[in-house]
Amino acid sequence: MNDFNYRDDRLWCEDVPVEVIAGKVGTPFYLYSHKTLLQHFRVFDEALRDVPHIICYAAKANSNLAILRLFVKEGGGVDIVSGGELYRALQVGADPGKIVYSGVGKRVDEIDFALRSEILMFNVESSEELGVINERAGLMGRKARISLRINPDVDPKTHPHISTGLKSNKFGIDIEKSLEEYRRARTLPHVEIVGVDCHIGSQVTQISPFIDALERLKSLIGRLREEGIEIRYLDLGGGLGITYNEEMPPHPEEYARAVIESARDLKVTFIFEPGRVIVGNAGILVSRVLYTKSNGEKNFVIVDAGMNDLIRPSIYGSYHQVQPVVIRDRGSFLADVVGPICESGDFLAKGRMIPKLERGELIAVMSAGAYGFSMASNYNSRPRIAEVLVKDRKFHVVRKREEYADLTRGERVPAFLK
Ligand code: LLP
Repeated sequence: MNDFNYRDDRLWCEDVPVEVIAGKVGTPFYLYSHKTLLQHFRVFDEALRDVPHIICYAAKANSNLAILRLFVKEGGGVDIVSGGELYRALQVGADPGKIVYSGVGKRVDEIDFALRSEILMFNVESSEELGVINERAGLMGRKARISLRINPDVDPKTHPHISTGLKSNKFGIDIEKSLEEYRRARTLPHVEIVGVDCHIGSQVTQISPFIDALERLKSLIGRLREEGIEIRYLDLGGGLGITYNEEMPPHPEEYARAVIESARDLKVTFIFEPGRVIVGNAGILVSRVLYTKSNGEKNFVIVDAGMNDLIRPSIYGSYHQVQPVVIRDRGSFLADVVGPICESGDFLAKGRMIPKLERGELIAVMSAGAYGFSMASNYNSRPRIAEVLVKDRKFHVVRKREEYADLTRGERVPAFLK
């Protein structure tokens, strides 16, 4: 379900025609629907009504302040992976008591920032990190609440670059060694064990890997409790997939039911870290056709958005539907939709049957709300594009398009070159 729909052959976002926004804001831009964002958050939250839980939205999926604020207003927490994401979360008034901090490479200054902010817990990913957190907390005269991120060694059956719960991945602490690590944590004076955490991967479209991981964590929690180590939080990470093309991921209700069935009696507060499932289909990328050309057999539609704006197709071969913003009756052709960047890997769609497009027309790249803007770069010295949020009949620019001056901010030519 989302609020990008055609009315009389024109694409609308809620009650605003997309072409009107393009006319005012220029292209390319990301466009988000407030109604869809809210609904996706609420559906997930509602699905978990029968168990105590906190939804810590994974800021990395889309960290625009307006979007973070929306979920914070709904009572959500935030899953962060850097000092920058903590800064953003605090800027929108997130409750530090609902912030969890994951990531294999937390720097000392980031750990200090999180300790000062009194976040809910660190999801610790290595033995060394545990030592550093203990030391920093000691220096600050505080106690760090921690859980260990367990690598349960299950195959999430997703793209290898976004699978994280296999032994061969860099994430978490080997489940076999985790008991030992918890025992060590208990002896550290400046940490307080509060939970168990895992995140097996992203764009997971089956329930079974989540439940496999959960079963393993349950037996770990059992063992810990036998040894008198109390566990209050069970963080199951994010990872629930969405439909980009023909995937049929489980509905959040179905996912929640399976989790609750398997772990209802655990007496913990559940934490979830969904990203994509909340924001993915709540956003699109709008771009304008610059040129079309045909090289013998192959048709190219060259648009003004490139891999620096949306990198998913280039690095994961991801599929995003490409649709015309205004449907015209000109038939279809097989084409590559490519950007202006000087790399052959710069494409948004490859070998796709799409409506014949002409110079000046607008396209919508669908399902671009997650890992779209948040992975954008300035490659080829392209200013990062605008982000727009629609609510009902109004649109709001929630991040203005960068200007050329933004590109060189902070750069200096040293005196010896002058
Ligand atoms: N929690 C942790 C610890 C994570 O590492 C991630 C995603 C999430 C939660 C949120 O996962 P989600 O619910 O969004 O699947 N750039 C890739 C996705 C990388 C995901 C990284 N971790 C993409 O564009 O598909």
